[in-house]
Amino acid sequence: MEKTKVAIVGMGTVGGGVAKLLLDHGDRTARHAGRTLWLERAVVRDLSKPRDGELPAGVLSDDVEDVLNDPEITVVAQLIGGLEPARTIMLRLLEAGKDIVTANKALLAEHGPELFDRARQLGRSIAFEASVAGGIPIITNISQCLSANQILSLEGILNGTSNFILSQMDQHALPYDDAVRLAQKLGYAEADPAMDVDGTDAAQKLAILAHLAFGARVHWRDIPRTGVDALHVIDLQFARELGYRIKLLAVARLSEAGLELHVSPTLVRIGTPLAEVQDAFNAIRVVGDAVGPVFYHGQGAGQMPTASAVVADIIDTAVGRTRLTFQTLELFSASEPPRVEQRSFDQLSGRYYFRLHVKDHPGVLAEITGVLGRNLVSIASVIQHAPQSDGDGTSVPLVVMTHEAPEGAARAAAEAMEKLSSVSGSVLRLRVKD
Ligand code: NAP
Ligand code: HSE
Repeated sequence: MEKTKVAIVGMGTVGGGVAKLLLDHGDRTARHAGRTLWLERAVVRDLSKPRDGELPAGVLSDDVEDVLNDPEITVVAQLIGGLEPARTIMLRLLEAGKDIVTANKALLAEHGPELFDRARQLGRSIAFEASVAGGIPIITNISQCLSANQILSLEGILNGTSNFILSQMDQHALPYDDAVRLAQKLGYAEADPAMDVDGTDAAQKLAILAHLAFGARVHWRDIPRTGVDALHVIDLQFARELGYRIKLLAVARLSEAGLELHVSPTLVRIGTPLAEVQDAFNAIRVVGDAVGPVFYHGQGAGQMPTASAVVADIIDTAVGRTRLTFQTLELFSASEPPRVEQRSFDQLSGRYYFRLHVKDHPGVLAEITGVLGRNLVSIASVIQHAPQSDGDGTSVPLVVMTHEAPEGAARAAAEAMEKLSSVSGSVLRLRVKD
C-alpha cells in the first residue's frame, strides 16, 4: 500500500490524541485514505516532559527542522497553540511544500488571510476542521454540505470550557474559580484560560464561521463579546427559577440591515435544544434558506474529539480532497471584498436580565424602576428574596427581567443604575432568548 508520511508539530493534548489515532487505528485510517498514514515525526518543545502514550523510537524530536528538511513528509498537523511561533512555523512548513492541518483558531482568526493567501500561492492547503467546535464537523458542513444554501443564521455554543464551567456552577453550585481549575485539569481550556472565559475564543471561532457562511471579513476583535467571567452561582439559580439556563452563545444572523454578530452569555429557555447542551459539549443551530434549521451537537473540546477532526483532515489532505475545496473557495482571501457588512450592536434589540446588589431600604426599587423607565426599558418581572438576616441594611440581590429593548438603551440603563448610591458593585446584564 502507498504511504503518506505525516508529522505532528505540537504533541500536547490534541497532538497526543492524533498520535494515538494514527498509531492505534492505522488500519481504519488506511481504509479511508486508501494508503497508509505513517507517523514519521512528532515535534515538541521540551523532550524531558513526561508524555502519555508510547511513540515508536526515533519519532519524537525537539527540532522542527527534522520536519522541514524531510521532503517525504507531505502532511503536517500543526498543533502548537497561540500566535508565535505557530505563525512562523506554519509559513515555513508551507514554503517547504507541506500541506497543513491545524486546530489553532486563534492563529486563523488573527492571521488567516496571510496564511491562506500564501498557501494558495504555493499550491498548498490548510485544513482547519478542528479549529471550531472540536469534534463537530461544522467547517465541512458549512463550506460543503450546505453550500446550496444562503445561511440565514448561526447560533452556537462554541467554547467548551465556558459551557463546562456553567454546567458545573448550575448542576453542582461549584464556585466559578473551582470550575475553571477543573476545566484546565481536564484539558479543555486554552494555555491562557482567560481567552475561554472572556469570550475571545468563541469570538475567534465565530469570525471563522461568519467568514465561511456569510463571506463576512470581520476581525474577531470587532465582534462585541462578553464572557462568563462575571457570572456567579446565584445567576444560574435565578435563571433556573425563571425557567432558563445560562449559555455563552455566539450569534450570527443575517437581515437586510446587515450581519448581527456577538458573543453573549444568554438566558436560554429550558427545554430548547441549546439550553440542554451540558459540560464541554458544543452545539450549533444553523438555518439555511433551502434546508431550514439544522442542529449539530458534540464534544467541542478535549483530546480525542478534537483529534477525531484533525485526523479526518489528515485523511482528506492525503487523498487530495482538501486541496480541491481549499483552492476553489476564496476562503480567507485578503483580496476578496466582503459580501456583507456588520450591523451596529447598539441597534440590536432583545430582552434582558439585570442582576444587581441593592441596599434593602425603602424607595430603592422605585429608583431602579425610574432609571429603567427614563431609558425606555420596560420591566417584565422582578425578583427579590427576603434577606437571611432582617433589617440590617445589608445589600440583597435584585433581578429584573425586561421586555424587548434596544441594546444601547439597556446598556445605558445598567450604567445609570451603577451610579445610584443604593446599588453596590457592577450591574450584570445578560441577553434573553425565549
Ligand atoms: P497544549 O496541550 O498546550 O500543546 C501544545 C504543544 O505544542 C505542546 O506539545 C508543546 O510542547 C508544543 N509546542 C509549543 N511550542 C512549541 C515550539 N516552539 N516548537 C515545538 N513544539 C512546541 O495545547 P493543546 O490543548 O493540544 O492545543 C493545541 C491547539 O489546538 C491550540 O491551538 C488549541 O487552541 C487547539 N484546540 C485545542 C483543543 C483542546 O481541547 N485542547 C480543542 C480544539 C482546538 P511541550 O509539550 O514540549 O510543551
Ligand atoms: N479551549 C477551547 C474550548 C478548546 O474550551 O472550547 C476547543 O477549541
